[in-house]
Amino acid sequence: MSRFIIEGGRKMEGEINAQGSKNAVLPILAATIMSDGKNMIYNCPRLRDVDMTIEVLKNLGCRADFDGGCLEVDASDISGYTIPDELMRQMRSSIIFLGAIIARFGRAEISMPGGCEIGIRPIDLHLAALEKLGVDITESHGFIHCVRKKQIPADIHLDFPSVGATENIMLAACMTDGITTIDNAAREPEIVDLGRFLNRMGAKIKGAGTDRITISGVHKLYGAAHTIIPDRIVCATYLACAMASGGTLAIKGANPKDMGAMLSVLRNMGAEIYEDRKKLVILSPKKLKSIGTIKTMPYPGFPTDIQSPFMALATQCDGSSVFVENIFENRFRHTEELVRMGADIKTDGRVAVVIGKSALTGARVAAPDLRGGAALAVAALAAEGRTEIDNITYVDRGYEAMENVLSSCGIEIKRRE
Ligand code: EPU
Repeated sequence: MSRFIIEGGRKMEGEINAQGSKNAVLPILAATIMSDGKNMIYNCPRLRDVDMTIEVLKNLGCRADFDGGCLEVDASDISGYTIPDELMRQMRSSIIFLGAIIARFGRAEISMPGGCEIGIRPIDLHLAALEKLGVDITESHGFIHCVRKKQIPADIHLDFPSVGATENIMLAACMTDGITTIDNAAREPEIVDLGRFLNRMGAKIKGAGTDRITISGVHKLYGAAHTIIPDRIVCATYLACAMASGGTLAIKGANPKDMGAMLSVLRNMGAEIYEDRKKLVILSPKKLKSIGTIKTMPYPGFPTDIQSPFMALATQCDGSSVFVENIFENRFRHTEELVRMGADIKTDGRVAVVIGKSALTGARVAAPDLRGGAALAVAALAAEGRTEIDNITYVDRGYEAMENVLSSCGIEIKRRE
């Protein structure tokens, strides 16, 4: 397993580019299989999760190759409708292929995704919605077998605005005759990006980004070109890195409109944040103020994905901060590692209380999951001395070469295999 070695106490100063969004590109890559032609995906981030999605595409019979920053996907010769167990185990989010495979083949077989580091993550909402769209679903031998008996549009109400379920319904319904609606749909910017891409392919989707999405079925989708939105979670992670180090950072291509809840918290901590010629700039305060209580919520609320990096930053605030994790039940695993570095954090179920300011010291720690690993990098920048972070393959799932980004801004960081 690879690890990062980070020397604390250096200021992060400089300018970086916003990478393309992981959670936008994954469903968009799934959508490409619904077209006969060639799709050009620009600003596609080079991530482990993207590599694994490319494996899934190839396994289904697609051609997928990077040409510079553009990923070309040609699904003309697609033949398979099965995602094998080994690929599904490597990447749980392959579940978003389900809707697209059913749309293309009228059937799909996919290994049961199971839980992951951050929680049980059931898929009941996905399956119930697909059944409403006329898909017959059976489970056996760890596989989900789906056969579309008839194409029926549906009015679907989600009990919870699940991102993945909203995406799967959009994918499955855009080639279903008639009008399908999703109420209490997820409103994340990544949903908007998927809607934009599908419409470029010829779909008729309205309302993506609101809690009611309307999908009018079409008979055919075509290959399309699309530029992926910037990754709001990665941008916010680097803003947290800058603040943890007391530095100044500019991010080219970030979209502050998608980052409202996160920027508001950083401003409450005392950061000065402004836009300057398409760059998002952050100036760190001398002292960080505590942030009161943060509750993770579906968009436009505070995102669960930034909870752990911001908790690392909260260790540097004067006073206490409270984090309530409402989305995933197992997303505090980074706290033990932060405590090893000298943080004062107590957790009870879904609540974590952080008492600051702690003088963090470098230690040997291990990334418990993707965002937990990013949190340890934030803490390492604030710590005195050397921090070694093991298991950084988790970090590689969502952050494009984090060591290059940080070292381009004056941080001493090395990757060791
Ligand atoms: N849920 C159910 N039943 C379902 C679906 C979801 O109970 O059928 C529950 C989940 O267990 C969870 C909550 O609903 O407790 C939210 O899940 P959601 O479906 O919204 O999340 P997701 O689609 O599985 C995406 C992102 C996550 C991000 C969440 C929430 C992708 C590939 N993943 O997951 O990203 O945390 O939305 O915003 O888009 C990450 O990038 O680190 C990451 C985990």
